[in-house]
Amino acid sequence: MDISLETACTLLTQGEVVAIPTETVYGLAASIAHPQAIAKIFTLKGRPSNNPLIIHVADIEQIYPYVTEIPPHFAELAAYFWPGPLTVVLPVKSSLVPAQIRAGLSTAAFRIPQHPLALKVLQQVGPIVMPSANLSGKPSATQPAHVAQDFGTHFPILDGGSCSHGLESTILYYMNAQWHILRLGSLAAEQFESVLGYKPPLHQGDKVICPGQLHRHYAPQAQLLIDQELSPASIGYVLGFSDRTYPDCKIFSLGKSDQPEEIAENLYEVLRSLDEAKIQRVWVDNDFPQNGLWLTISERLVRASCSSPFIL
Ligand code: TXA
Ligand code: MG
Repeated sequence: MDISLETACTLLTQGEVVAIPTETVYGLAASIAHPQAIAKIFTLKGRPSNNPLIIHVADIEQIYPYVTEIPPHFAELAAYFWPGPLTVVLPVKSSLVPAQIRAGLSTAAFRIPQHPLALKVLQQVGPIVMPSANLSGKPSATQPAHVAQDFGTHFPILDGGSCSHGLESTILYYMNAQWHILRLGSLAAEQFESVLGYKPPLHQGDKVICPGQLHRHYAPQAQLLIDQELSPASIGYVLGFSDRTYPDCKIFSLGKSDQPEEIAENLYEVLRSLDEAKIQRVWVDNDFPQNGLWLTISERLVRASCSSPFIL
């Protein structure tokens, strides 16, 4: 159900949950001041309570009161990338950030989104928590219709059109004297080099820092076949590129193979369209570079192809 900006702000202030657009994906929003609305987000999504939420704000000054320690280069990162698809995990005062939001961790994640409607909501309502507006495990929603697919046509949605980036924010965390990427996202690792003087490494290791990364994600019902010995024609359906040919196959096109931004924008829509078409198995063309935004696209496809509910 389409709602106006004014209604979205009123509902949020009254402790309701609404879907709002961001430049990355649609978010399921609740005011930080309403614990029962935050609890409802977990129920609606079927999200495990050990998966913390990102706090979204309109202005960097709203972050400082929560934080116990500001890592080096934080101000430069914020000045360069905010508003935008960057999320930063910072150590916080546990008395000021409800444990429900942080899933009991001593840190919280913060982001200033760029979408004009998201910024207007944040300016009027104050800080809001917002996971992606999809059922847990499913592809994120990049259009209002996707939110309605997951939460019903009566669910209140502020329509901001199609999300321009189409992939979630990149999450950074400072540890061992270096920024690390906890989640690949709309900003490629290379884009941080000019600000940090180095390319932040992807955090991999035994210690789980980003609980959401443990879970199966972004997955349609359809089984995605990546790196398998099977030929595309033996499957009959291909998730591929519009400028390539796949004889005897129906193609679900991600876009042109030299346009990663376009492919990022289309990815979740195309994954969802596989289910609309009731496709059971699809062969994935993964012949593309493994750097820049492609790395995020590749990671999302691998997660979407995983048949186990957890990735460990
Ligand atoms: O682009 C985005 O970031 C979107 C839009 C709506 O802003 N939001 C989003 O939220 O993707 P969600 O809840 O789907 O993903 C948030 C991720 C999860 O993987 C979660 O584990 C991680 O952020 N996260 C949140 N707080 C954290 C913390 N304190 N430490 C480590 N990871 C954290
Ligand atoms: Mg999500």
